[in-house]
Amino acid sequence: MILEKTEILEITCNGKSDEDIKKLSFAADVIRRGGTVCFPTETVYGLGANALDKAAVEDIFKAKGRPQDNPLIIHLDSLENADKYCKAKENAHLDAISCFFPGPITAVLEKKDNIPDVVTAKLKSVGVRVPVHPVANAFLKLCGVPVAAPSANISGRPSPTDAKHVIEDLFGKVDVIISAGRSEVGLESTIVSLVTTPPTLLRPGGISYEELCEKLGEVAVSNAVLSEMKPGDTASAPGMKYKHYAPKAAVFLVCGNFCDVVSFLSCKQKSENCAIIGFSEDKDQLCEKNFFDLGSINDPSEHAHRVFAHLRATDAIEGLDKVYVHITGDKSGINLAVFNRLLKASAYHIIDLTEEK
Ligand code: TXA
Ligand code: MG
Repeated sequence: MILEKTEILEITCNGKSDEDIKKLSFAADVIRRGGTVCFPTETVYGLGANALDKAAVEDIFKAKGRPQDNPLIIHLDSLENADKYCKAKENAHLDAISCFFPGPITAVLEKKDNIPDVVTAKLKSVGVRVPVHPVANAFLKLCGVPVAAPSANISGRPSPTDAKHVIEDLFGKVDVIISAGRSEVGLESTIVSLVTTPPTLLRPGGISYEELCEKLGEVAVSNAVLSEMKPGDTASAPGMKYKHYAPKAAVFLVCGNFCDVVSFLSCKQKSENCAIIGFSEDKDQLCEKNFFDLGSINDPSEHAHRVFAHLRATDAIEGLDKVYVHITGDKSGINLAVFNRLLKASAYHIIDLTEEK
Protein backbone atom coordinates (compact mmCIF):
# COMPACT_ATOMS: atom_id res chain seq x y z
CA MET A 1 0.00 0.00 0.00
CA ILE A 2 1.15 3.54 -0.67
CA LEU A 3 -1.57 5.26 1.40
CA GLU A 4 -1.79 4.95 5.19
CA LYS A 5 -5.32 3.58 5.07
CA THR A 6 -7.83 2.39 2.50
CA GLU A 7 -9.82 5.29 0.98
CA ILE A 8 -13.40 4.49 -0.08
CA LEU A 9 -14.57 6.79 -2.87
CA GLU A 10 -18.35 6.89 -3.55
CA ILE A 11 -19.20 7.62 -7.16
CA THR A 12 -22.74 8.90 -7.62
CA CYS A 13 -23.02 10.25 -11.18
CA ASN A 14 -21.38 7.49 -13.27
CA GLY A 15 -18.05 9.35 -13.20
CA LYS A 16 -19.55 12.35 -14.99
CA SER A 17 -19.91 15.06 -12.28
CA ASP A 18 -17.01 17.34 -11.24
CA GLU A 19 -17.00 15.63 -7.83
CA ASP A 20 -16.78 12.16 -9.45
CA ILE A 21 -14.01 13.25 -11.81
CA LYS A 22 -12.04 14.63 -8.84
CA LYS A 23 -12.32 11.27 -7.03
CA LEU A 24 -11.44 9.21 -10.12
CA SER A 25 -8.42 11.48 -10.80
CA PHE A 26 -7.23 10.83 -7.24
CA ALA A 27 -7.58 7.06 -7.81
CA ALA A 28 -5.80 7.25 -11.19
CA ASP A 29 -2.96 9.14 -9.52
CA VAL A 30 -2.66 6.33 -6.94
CA ILE A 31 -2.33 3.85 -9.85
CA ARG A 32 0.42 5.92 -11.51
CA ARG A 33 2.26 6.19 -8.17
CA GLY A 34 2.34 2.38 -7.81
CA GLY A 35 -0.70 1.83 -5.58
CA THR A 36 -3.70 -0.51 -5.81
CA VAL A 37 -7.27 0.54 -6.64
CA CYS A 38 -10.46 -1.57 -6.67
CA PHE A 39 -12.88 -0.38 -9.34
CA PRO A 40 -16.33 -1.33 -10.64
CA THR A 41 -16.88 -2.98 -14.01
CA GLU A 42 -20.02 -4.35 -15.65
CA THR A 43 -18.88 -7.93 -14.88
CA VAL A 44 -17.44 -7.85 -11.33
CA TYR A 45 -15.24 -5.42 -9.36
CA GLY A 46 -11.52 -5.55 -10.20
CA LEU A 47 -8.38 -5.05 -8.06
CA GLY A 48 -6.09 -2.94 -10.24
CA ALA A 49 -2.48 -1.78 -10.42
CA ASN A 50 -0.28 -0.34 -13.17
CA ALA A 51 0.49 -3.35 -15.39
CA LEU A 52 3.85 -1.82 -16.36
CA ASP A 53 5.00 -1.56 -12.71
CA LYS A 54 6.27 -4.94 -11.46
CA ALA A 55 6.19 -4.04 -7.75
CA ALA A 56 2.63 -2.70 -7.98
CA VAL A 57 1.48 -5.89 -9.74
CA GLU A 58 3.13 -7.99 -7.02
CA ASP A 59 0.96 -6.11 -4.48
CA ILE A 60 -2.18 -7.41 -6.25
CA PHE A 61 -1.05 -11.01 -5.65
CA LYS A 62 -0.30 -10.21 -1.99
CA ALA A 63 -3.62 -8.46 -1.32
CA LYS A 64 -5.67 -11.33 -2.84
CA GLY A 65 -3.49 -14.19 -1.62
CA ARG A 66 -3.34 -15.26 -5.29
CA PRO A 67 -0.91 -17.96 -6.50
CA GLN A 68 1.89 -16.37 -8.57
CA ASP A 69 1.37 -18.78 -11.48
CA ASN A 70 -2.15 -17.47 -12.17
CA PRO A 71 -1.84 -14.67 -14.77
CA LEU A 72 -3.69 -11.36 -14.70
CA ILE A 73 -5.58 -9.68 -17.52
CA ILE A 74 -4.99 -6.04 -18.51
CA HIS A 75 -7.71 -3.39 -18.74
CA LEU A 76 -7.66 -0.61 -21.33
CA ASP A 77 -9.94 2.36 -22.04
CA SER A 78 -10.09 1.49 -25.75
CA LEU A 79 -9.32 -1.49 -27.98
CA GLU A 80 -7.34 0.91 -30.16
CA ASN A 81 -4.62 0.97 -27.49
CA ALA A 82 -4.29 -2.84 -27.43
CA ASP A 83 -1.59 -2.90 -30.09
CA LYS A 84 0.82 -1.10 -27.74
CA TYR A 85 0.89 -4.15 -25.45
CA CYS A 86 0.08 -7.15 -27.65
CA LYS A 87 -0.12 -8.25 -31.29
CA ALA A 88 -3.62 -6.97 -31.87
CA LYS A 89 -3.55 -5.40 -35.34
CA GLU A 90 -2.45 -8.52 -37.20
CA ASN A 91 -4.92 -10.81 -35.41
CA ALA A 92 -7.83 -11.42 -37.81
CA HIS A 93 -9.89 -13.14 -35.09
CA LEU A 94 -9.76 -9.96 -32.99
CA ASP A 95 -11.03 -7.96 -35.93
CA ALA A 96 -13.95 -10.40 -36.26
CA ILE A 97 -15.03 -9.93 -32.63
CA SER A 98 -14.18 -6.22 -32.22
CA CYS A 99 -17.96 -5.51 -32.10
CA PHE A 100 -18.00 -7.01 -28.57
CA PHE A 101 -15.57 -4.34 -27.31
CA PRO A 102 -16.04 -2.49 -25.03
CA GLY A 103 -17.92 -5.18 -23.13
CA PRO A 104 -17.78 -8.32 -20.94
CA ILE A 105 -15.09 -10.12 -22.95
CA THR A 106 -11.33 -10.73 -22.66
CA ALA A 107 -9.21 -11.61 -25.70
CA VAL A 108 -6.00 -13.57 -25.16
CA LEU A 109 -3.37 -12.32 -27.62
CA GLU A 110 0.40 -12.64 -28.12
CA LYS A 111 2.02 -10.18 -25.70
CA LYS A 112 4.67 -7.56 -26.41
CA ASP A 113 7.84 -7.23 -24.30
CA ASN A 114 6.65 -4.17 -22.34
CA ILE A 115 4.20 -6.32 -20.34
CA PRO A 116 6.23 -7.72 -17.41
CA ASP A 117 6.33 -11.49 -16.80
CA VAL A 118 4.74 -11.04 -13.39
CA VAL A 119 1.46 -10.02 -15.11
CA THR A 120 1.25 -13.06 -17.39
CA ALA A 121 2.94 -15.59 -15.06
CA LYS A 122 5.60 -15.90 -17.79
CA LEU A 123 3.09 -16.86 -20.53
CA LYS A 124 3.76 -15.41 -23.97
CA SER A 125 0.13 -14.28 -24.21
CA VAL A 126 -1.87 -11.65 -22.34
CA GLY A 127 -5.61 -11.21 -21.74
CA VAL A 128 -6.98 -7.82 -22.86
CA ARG A 129 -10.27 -6.39 -21.66
CA VAL A 130 -12.02 -3.06 -22.31
CA PRO A 131 -14.87 -2.64 -19.80
CA VAL A 132 -18.00 -0.81 -20.96
CA HIS A 133 -18.92 0.40 -17.44
CA PRO A 134 -18.77 4.23 -17.59
CA VAL A 135 -16.91 4.55 -14.28
CA ALA A 136 -14.32 1.92 -15.30
CA ASN A 137 -13.88 3.64 -18.64
CA ALA A 138 -13.46 7.12 -17.12
CA PHE A 139 -11.00 5.74 -14.53
CA LEU A 140 -8.92 3.85 -17.14
CA LYS A 141 -8.76 6.95 -19.37
CA LEU A 142 -7.45 9.00 -16.45
CA CYS A 143 -4.88 6.28 -15.55
CA GLY A 144 -3.29 6.44 -19.01
CA VAL A 145 -1.54 3.10 -18.36
CA PRO A 146 -2.81 -0.48 -18.78
CA VAL A 147 -4.34 -1.66 -15.50
CA ALA A 148 -3.74 -5.29 -14.52
CA ALA A 149 -6.73 -6.51 -12.53
CA PRO A 150 -8.13 -9.79 -11.28
CA SER A 151 -11.52 -9.89 -9.58
CA ALA A 152 -11.39 -7.95 -6.27
CA ASN A 153 -11.97 -10.88 -3.90
CA ILE A 154 -9.73 -12.93 -1.64
CA SER A 155 -8.59 -15.86 -3.80
CA GLY A 156 -11.12 -18.70 -3.82
CA ARG A 157 -14.09 -16.62 -2.62
CA PRO A 158 -17.06 -15.66 -4.84
CA SER A 159 -16.26 -12.66 -7.06
CA PRO A 160 -17.50 -9.26 -5.82
CA THR A 161 -20.53 -7.78 -7.58
CA ASP A 162 -20.96 -4.91 -5.12
CA ALA A 163 -18.50 -2.55 -3.39
CA LYS A 164 -19.59 -3.98 -0.02
CA HIS A 165 -18.12 -7.38 -1.05
CA VAL A 166 -14.82 -5.68 -1.92
CA ILE A 167 -14.79 -3.90 1.44
CA GLU A 168 -15.45 -7.24 3.21
CA ASP A 169 -12.46 -8.89 1.51
CA LEU A 170 -9.91 -6.16 0.88
CA PHE A 171 -10.37 -3.18 3.23
CA GLY A 172 -6.94 -2.47 4.77
CA LYS A 173 -5.16 -4.37 1.99
CA VAL A 174 -5.59 -1.94 -0.93
CA ASP A 175 -5.16 1.83 -1.26
CA VAL A 176 -8.51 2.78 -2.80
CA ILE A 177 -11.94 1.21 -3.26
CA ILE A 178 -14.16 2.97 -5.81
CA SER A 179 -17.76 2.27 -4.85
CA ALA A 180 -20.39 2.56 -7.62
CA GLY A 181 -23.25 0.15 -7.01
CA ARG A 182 -23.85 -3.36 -8.30
CA SER A 183 -22.24 -4.94 -11.36
CA GLU A 184 -24.78 -5.38 -14.13
CA VAL A 185 -23.65 -8.74 -15.63
CA GLY A 186 -22.57 -10.26 -12.30
CA LEU A 187 -20.15 -12.89 -13.71
CA GLU A 188 -16.59 -12.36 -14.95
CA SER A 189 -15.91 -11.75 -18.64
CA THR A 190 -15.94 -14.37 -21.36
CA ILE A 191 -12.29 -15.30 -22.06
CA VAL A 192 -11.46 -16.35 -25.60
CA SER A 193 -7.97 -17.28 -26.71
CA LEU A 194 -7.19 -15.87 -30.15
CA VAL A 195 -3.71 -17.42 -30.27
CA THR A 196 -5.11 -20.88 -31.10
CA THR A 197 -6.70 -22.09 -34.35
CA PRO A 198 -9.61 -22.30 -34.05
CA PRO A 199 -10.00 -19.76 -31.20
CA THR A 200 -10.75 -21.36 -27.81
CA LEU A 201 -13.38 -20.42 -25.25
CA LEU A 202 -11.46 -20.53 -21.95
CA ARG A 203 -14.15 -19.13 -19.65
CA PRO A 204 -17.82 -18.50 -20.53
CA GLY A 205 -19.32 -15.13 -19.57
CA GLY A 206 -21.53 -12.27 -20.69
CA ILE A 207 -20.71 -12.76 -24.40
CA SER A 208 -22.06 -16.24 -25.16
CA TYR A 209 -20.44 -19.15 -26.99
CA GLU A 210 -23.16 -18.85 -29.66
CA GLU A 211 -22.34 -15.14 -30.21
CA LEU A 212 -18.62 -15.97 -30.58
CA CYS A 213 -19.37 -18.76 -33.09
CA GLU A 214 -21.48 -16.37 -35.14
CA LYS A 215 -18.46 -14.09 -35.63
CA LEU A 216 -15.59 -16.59 -35.57
CA GLY A 217 -17.10 -19.70 -37.18
CA GLU A 218 -15.59 -22.61 -35.28
CA VAL A 219 -14.71 -22.06 -31.60
CA ALA A 220 -13.14 -24.81 -29.46
CA VAL A 221 -14.25 -25.12 -25.83
CA SER A 222 -11.55 -25.64 -23.22
CA ASN A 223 -11.98 -28.83 -21.20
CA ALA A 224 -11.83 -26.62 -18.09
CA VAL A 225 -15.26 -25.09 -18.85
CA LEU A 226 -17.35 -28.12 -17.89
CA SER A 227 -14.99 -30.72 -16.46
CA GLU A 228 -12.93 -30.96 -13.36
CA MET A 229 -9.17 -30.46 -13.77
CA LYS A 230 -7.25 -33.49 -12.48
CA PRO A 231 -3.80 -33.12 -10.89
CA GLY A 232 -1.26 -32.98 -13.76
CA ASP A 233 -3.77 -31.63 -16.34
CA THR A 234 -2.54 -28.49 -18.05
CA ALA A 235 -5.18 -25.80 -18.00
CA SER A 236 -5.31 -23.46 -20.98
CA ALA A 237 -6.72 -20.84 -18.55
CA PRO A 238 -4.42 -21.36 -15.58
CA GLY A 239 -6.95 -19.97 -13.09
CA MET A 240 -9.36 -22.80 -13.85
CA LYS A 241 -7.35 -25.31 -11.86
CA TYR A 242 -7.87 -23.52 -8.55
CA LYS A 243 -10.79 -23.87 -6.16
CA HIS A 244 -13.18 -21.07 -6.98
CA TYR A 245 -16.28 -19.18 -5.97
CA ALA A 246 -16.83 -21.37 -2.94
CA PRO A 247 -18.71 -20.25 0.17
CA LYS A 248 -17.84 -21.90 3.52
CA ALA A 249 -20.69 -24.46 3.47
CA ALA A 250 -20.61 -27.38 1.00
CA VAL A 251 -22.55 -26.59 -2.19
CA PHE A 252 -24.72 -29.14 -4.07
CA LEU A 253 -26.42 -28.52 -7.42
CA VAL A 254 -29.84 -30.13 -7.83
CA CYS A 255 -31.53 -30.77 -11.18
CA GLY A 256 -34.47 -32.78 -12.49
CA ASN A 257 -38.19 -32.41 -13.03
CA PHE A 258 -39.35 -29.10 -11.45
CA CYS A 259 -41.75 -30.69 -8.94
CA ASP A 260 -39.21 -33.35 -7.89
CA VAL A 261 -36.56 -30.70 -7.23
CA VAL A 262 -38.93 -28.56 -5.18
CA SER A 263 -40.03 -31.49 -3.01
CA PHE A 264 -36.39 -32.57 -2.57
CA LEU A 265 -35.48 -29.03 -1.43
CA SER A 266 -38.50 -28.87 0.86
CA CYS A 267 -37.43 -32.14 2.58
CA LYS A 268 -33.90 -30.81 3.01
CA GLN A 269 -35.22 -27.61 4.60
CA LYS A 270 -37.02 -29.71 7.20
CA SER A 271 -34.22 -32.14 7.96
CA GLU A 272 -30.97 -30.18 7.56
CA ASN A 273 -29.36 -26.89 8.51
CA CYS A 274 -29.16 -25.72 4.91
CA ALA A 275 -29.68 -22.74 2.63
CA ILE A 276 -31.41 -22.90 -0.74
CA ILE A 277 -30.52 -20.84 -3.79
CA GLY A 278 -33.49 -21.28 -6.11
CA PHE A 279 -35.87 -19.68 -8.58
CA SER A 280 -38.75 -17.32 -7.78
CA GLU A 281 -41.12 -20.11 -8.91
CA ASP A 282 -39.77 -22.41 -6.13
CA LYS A 283 -40.67 -19.96 -3.37
CA ASP A 284 -44.36 -20.78 -2.97
CA GLN A 285 -43.60 -24.31 -1.85
CA LEU A 286 -40.55 -23.58 0.29
CA CYS A 287 -39.92 -21.97 3.62
CA GLU A 288 -38.59 -18.39 3.27
CA LYS A 289 -35.88 -18.86 5.88
CA ASN A 290 -32.42 -19.09 4.24
CA PHE A 291 -33.96 -19.05 0.74
CA PHE A 292 -32.10 -16.92 -1.83
CA ASP A 293 -34.00 -15.99 -4.97
CA LEU A 294 -32.18 -16.11 -8.34
CA GLY A 295 -35.14 -14.58 -10.19
CA SER A 296 -37.58 -16.27 -12.53
CA ILE A 297 -36.51 -19.62 -13.98
CA ASN A 298 -36.93 -18.02 -17.42
CA ASP A 299 -34.56 -15.10 -16.75
CA PRO A 300 -30.96 -16.43 -16.90
CA SER A 301 -29.40 -12.92 -17.04
CA GLU A 302 -30.91 -12.29 -13.62
CA HIS A 303 -29.42 -15.59 -12.33
CA ALA A 304 -25.99 -14.37 -13.51
CA HIS A 305 -26.57 -10.97 -11.89
CA ARG A 306 -27.48 -12.46 -8.49
CA VAL A 307 -25.62 -15.76 -8.08
CA PHE A 308 -22.30 -14.56 -6.61
CA ALA A 309 -24.00 -12.26 -4.09
CA HIS A 310 -26.16 -15.20 -2.93
CA LEU A 311 -23.20 -17.59 -2.58
CA ARG A 312 -21.46 -14.91 -0.51
CA ALA A 313 -24.55 -14.21 1.60
CA THR A 314 -24.70 -17.85 2.75
CA ASP A 315 -21.39 -17.23 4.56
CA ALA A 316 -23.17 -14.88 6.95
CA ILE A 317 -25.49 -17.64 8.26
CA GLU A 318 -24.17 -19.16 11.49
CA GLY A 319 -23.48 -22.90 11.51
CA LEU A 320 -24.75 -23.62 8.00
CA ASP A 321 -23.80 -27.11 6.73
CA LYS A 322 -24.98 -27.17 3.13
CA VAL A 323 -26.17 -24.97 0.30
CA TYR A 324 -28.48 -26.54 -2.33
CA VAL A 325 -28.75 -24.73 -5.66
CA HIS A 326 -31.63 -25.44 -8.08
CA ILE A 327 -30.24 -25.63 -11.62
CA THR A 328 -32.02 -26.18 -14.94
CA GLY A 329 -29.11 -27.92 -16.69
CA ASP A 330 -29.53 -25.56 -19.68
CA LYS A 331 -26.15 -24.66 -21.20
CA SER A 332 -27.21 -22.16 -23.85
CA GLY A 333 -26.39 -18.43 -23.80
CA ILE A 334 -25.46 -16.99 -20.39
CA ASN A 335 -26.67 -20.26 -18.74
CA LEU A 336 -23.30 -21.84 -19.64
CA ALA A 337 -21.45 -19.20 -17.59
CA VAL A 338 -23.76 -19.58 -14.58
CA PHE A 339 -23.44 -23.38 -14.75
CA ASN A 340 -19.62 -23.14 -15.03
CA ARG A 341 -19.36 -20.98 -11.88
CA LEU A 342 -21.77 -23.21 -9.96
CA LEU A 343 -19.88 -26.36 -10.98
CA LYS A 344 -16.72 -24.86 -9.51
CA ALA A 345 -18.46 -23.53 -6.39
CA SER A 346 -19.87 -27.02 -5.75
CA ALA A 347 -16.64 -28.89 -6.58
CA TYR A 348 -18.74 -30.72 -9.25
CA HIS A 349 -21.31 -32.11 -6.80
CA ILE A 350 -24.52 -32.59 -8.78
CA ILE A 351 -27.62 -34.35 -7.50
CA ASP A 352 -29.53 -35.42 -10.63
CA LEU A 353 -33.00 -36.53 -9.53
CA THR A 354 -33.80 -38.00 -12.95
CA GLU A 355 -30.90 -40.44 -12.48
CA GLU A 356 -31.96 -41.31 -8.95
CA LYS A 357 -35.49 -42.31 -10.08
O1 TXA B 1 -14.57 -9.77 -15.85
C1 TXA B 1 -13.41 -10.01 -15.61
O2 TXA B 1 -12.67 -10.65 -16.41
C2 TXA B 1 -12.83 -9.52 -14.28
C3 TXA B 1 -12.90 -7.99 -14.27
C4 TXA B 1 -12.27 -7.40 -13.06
O3 TXA B 1 -12.34 -7.49 -15.45
N1 TXA B 1 -11.52 -10.00 -14.08
C5 TXA B 1 -11.25 -11.30 -13.77
O4 TXA B 1 -9.90 -11.58 -13.57
O5 TXA B 1 -12.11 -12.13 -13.67
P1 TXA B 1 -9.42 -12.94 -12.87
O6 TXA B 1 -7.95 -12.78 -12.69
O7 TXA B 1 -10.21 -13.17 -11.63
O8 TXA B 1 -9.68 -14.01 -13.97
C6 TXA B 1 -8.90 -14.01 -15.15
C7 TXA B 1 -8.70 -15.40 -15.65
C8 TXA B 1 -7.87 -16.29 -14.73
O9 TXA B 1 -8.52 -17.55 -14.65
C9 TXA B 1 -6.55 -16.43 -15.46
O10 TXA B 1 -5.94 -17.68 -15.22
C10 TXA B 1 -6.96 -16.28 -16.91
O11 TXA B 1 -7.98 -15.31 -16.87
N2 TXA B 1 -5.87 -15.73 -17.75
C11 TXA B 1 -5.22 -14.58 -17.59
N3 TXA B 1 -4.27 -14.42 -18.54
C12 TXA B 1 -4.35 -15.50 -19.33
C13 TXA B 1 -3.63 -15.93 -20.50
N4 TXA B 1 -2.63 -15.21 -21.01
N5 TXA B 1 -3.96 -17.11 -21.04
C14 TXA B 1 -4.98 -17.85 -20.52
N6 TXA B 1 -5.70 -17.49 -19.42
C15 TXA B 1 -5.38 -16.34 -18.83
MG1 MG C 1 -11.21 -14.15 -10.15
